[in-house]
Amino acid sequence: MLRPPMSSDVEAIFQGYSSDAEVTRYLAWPTHRSLADTEVFVAFSDSEWARWPAGPFLAFLKSDGRLIGSTGLGFESLHEASTGFVLARDAWGQGYGTEVAMAMVELAAALGVGRLKALCHPAHLASRRVLEKVDFRHEGLLPRHVVFPNLSSDQQDVCVYGRRPGGPAL
Ligand SMILES: CC(C)(COP(=O)(O)OP(=O)(O)OC[C@H]1O[C@@H](n2cnc3c(N)ncnc32)[C@H](O)[C@@H]1OP(=O)(O)O)[C@@H](O)C(=O)NCCC(=O)NCCS
Repeated sequence: MLRPPMSSDVEAIFQGYSSDAEVTRYLAWPTHRSLADTEVFVAFSDSEWARWPAGPFLAFLKSDGRLIGSTGLGFESLHEASTGFVLARDAWGQGYGTEVAMAMVELAAALGVGRLKALCHPAHLASRRVLEKVDFRHEGLLPRHVVFPNLSSDQQDVCVYGRRPGGPAL
C-alpha cells in the first residue's frame, strides 16, 4: 500500500530505515541522525506534492500495515521524472523493491510521463537488478556525476537507467 508521507510517520520512518547506515549506504541523502532530519524529508515531500502531480510515497505491508520503505516520483518537468526506492533491511529480498518500482512505472504512465529515469551506484547490484526487472534500460555511465554522501564526499560515477513508462523500454 502506497501513500504520501505525513508528519505522524516521522518516527516510524526514522526507526524503520532512514537512520540505518546499511540501508542508506548507496542513497543520495545522508543517513538521518535525528528526527529533525526526517521531518525535513516530510516537509520536502509536502512541497513536491504541492508543486507536481505526485511526489514521495511511503510503502506499507497490506497484511499488517507495517511501514517497509519509500519510493516516489521526482519531476523535472511534466514529461520527465526520476524514481528510486528504499526499504527497511528486514523487508529486503522478498520482491517488494520490484513491486514498488513497478508501481511507480504504472503511476508515471497514468500521469503521461514520457521518460522515467533512475540513477544508481554501479556497485549496487540489487538496485540495478530491480531496475532491470521492471524493464529499465541501462543507458550508460555518467563519470564523476553524483555525490553519495554516505560513501564519500567525492563525486562518483553513476549508472543512468531509463524507460518509457507507457510502453517498451526506450
Ligand atoms: C535495492 C532494494 C530496494 C531492493 O529491494 P528488494 O525488495 O530486496 O528487491 P527485490 O527482492 O524485488 O529484487 C532484488 C533482486 O536483486 C537481486 N540481488 C540482491 N542482491 C544482489 C547482489 N548482491 N548481486 C546481484 N543481485 C542481487 C535479487 O536476487 C533479486 O533479483 P531476482 O528476483 O532476479 O532474484 C533494497 O535492497 C534497499 O532498500 N536497499 C537500500 C536502499 C537503496 O540502496 N536503494 C536503491 C538506491 S538506487
